[in-house]
Amino acid sequence: MIQTIKEHLVEVEKFASTSKEEIETFRIKYLGKKGLLNTFFAEFKNVPIDQKKEFGQVINELKSAATEKVNALKEALESQTEVGKYGDLTRPGEPMEIGARHPISIVKNRIIDIFSRIGFNVSEGPEIEDDWHNFTALNLPEYHPARDMQDTFFIQTNPDILLRTHTSSVQVRYMESHQPPIRTISPGRVYRNEAISARSHCFFHQVEGLYVDKNVSFADLKQTLQYFTSEMFGKSKIRLRPSYFPFTEPSAEVDVYWGLETETDYRMTKGTGWLEIMGCGMIDPNVLRNCGIDPEVYSGFAFGMGIDRIALLLHQISDIRLLSENDVRFLEQFKSAL
Ligand code: DAH
Repeated sequence: MIQTIKEHLVEVEKFASTSKEEIETFRIKYLGKKGLLNTFFAEFKNVPIDQKKEFGQVINELKSAATEKVNALKEALESQTEVGKYGDLTRPGEPMEIGARHPISIVKNRIIDIFSRIGFNVSEGPEIEDDWHNFTALNLPEYHPARDMQDTFFIQTNPDILLRTHTSSVQVRYMESHQPPIRTISPGRVYRNEAISARSHCFFHQVEGLYVDKNVSFADLKQTLQYFTSEMFGKSKIRLRPSYFPFTEPSAEVDVYWGLETETDYRMTKGTGWLEIMGCGMIDPNVLRNCGIDPEVYSGFAFGMGIDRIALLLHQISDIRLLSENDVRFLEQFKSAL
């Protein structure tokens, strides 16, 4: 009997399998209720006294060998299968929520895309600016009345450091560090000390455009703007109204004919169908000179437009404040937009 058990011990130690069923059969054979071990234990009472000790030892050895073997094989099996490694791969996946872009970003990206197709790159400048870049270099010396067109936030008490009131400051920075040919657009946030209402806020977003080369004319400006409005709005009927900006001469305001189809059209165009979308002009020779570009050799045009108003218009949003409140219920509505 003892010999038989020892033979089983060898067999148990030799046993190997990666099949779940085989391991289970093995377990039942040795450790199951009616398994060999229980049979041997039942035999114990019939073993002659002088053999009881050795019998007890081998049978316990067999039991722990079988138990260890089963545990080791099961563990190996589990870490090998995909369930063990990755979890259950057949479980249905959880749908991933797709976020929404902010309407400002949607409009900004479209503008960048449209201008990049005609060779404009994108440039940026700081929101905290100095007087030179925001005003003086742009032909707005101290005490120039046109500074009052833009109510400025100053940083603490230093009158030289301010929150930029327009992205035209990036024009100056770009021309200071690049020679023509220049074709760049500069999107960014700007700040003005204005009362907050449904129509205006103390910060908003602009895109500045800058084109400097030899022989750049007003006709080039007009053509560029027409390309832009037809790509952006699907509308190429524009008009340029004479205007004044210190940094351009001549200057103009650009209206696009929007039409009067919806209530928002009426409200946004004040019932005229025409929508003012930007300011523009030929860069004043003084500005070119201030930025280290020779106005005898080069000429250029610039334009600046507000992004927020375009976003309101394109998405039929009635209140500019919605753009900065970050209400998820509002923002979620732009999931399907680009
Ligand atoms: N900086 C002007 C503003 O904030 C917009 C503007 C007008 C920019 C004419 C220009 C320009 O570059 O040529 O109202």
